[in-house]
Amino acid sequence: MAGHDGHRGWVYYLAVDPAHRGRGLGRELMEEAGHWLASRGAPKLELMVRDGNDPAAKFYEVLGYKRQEVSVYSKWLRHLPGPADRTATGPLSKKSRSRA
Ligand SMILES: CC(C)(COP(=O)(O)OP(=O)(O)OC[C@H]1O[C@@H](n2cnc3c(N)ncnc32)[C@H](O)[C@@H]1OP(=O)(O)O)[C@@H](O)C(=O)NCCC(=O)NCCS
Repeated sequence: MAGHDGHRGWVYYLAVDPAHRGRGLGRELMEEAGHWLASRGAPKLELMVRDGNDPAAKFYEVLGYKRQEVSVYSKWLRHLPGPADRTATGPLSKKSRSRA
């Protein structure tokens, strides 16, 4: 899955069926993602690899990717209203109305 935020391109959840690994499909998918992102103006492709997933890290290194010194921060948003809760009178729309 590839996408971009207007500044960087990202690839998430790359996977090749175990029965078809080692045949160049992963490389092909990453090259295709790179072309797709570059054609949309993304100057750089970034991705995340979980600590401990050494095979994936080695795969990306073979493809020329370099490990960056960046820490990823995250926070679950499950305690906040989801899309189904965003009604016309909900807190989000009230706030946006007062800003307008
Ligand atoms: C990582 C993954 C996508 C690689 O797909 P693949 O189709 O097997 O990879 P390719 O055959 O295209 O390999 C491309 C190159 O990487 C090398 N490579 C792949 N895995 C490697 C490994 N574990 N160690 C060293 N080199 C590796 C291949 O030898 C090949 O080199 P070459 O082109 O110079 O011959 C696949 O193993 C996979 O689906 N893994 C599980 C999911 C996962 O962890 N995804 C990454 C999430 S961040």
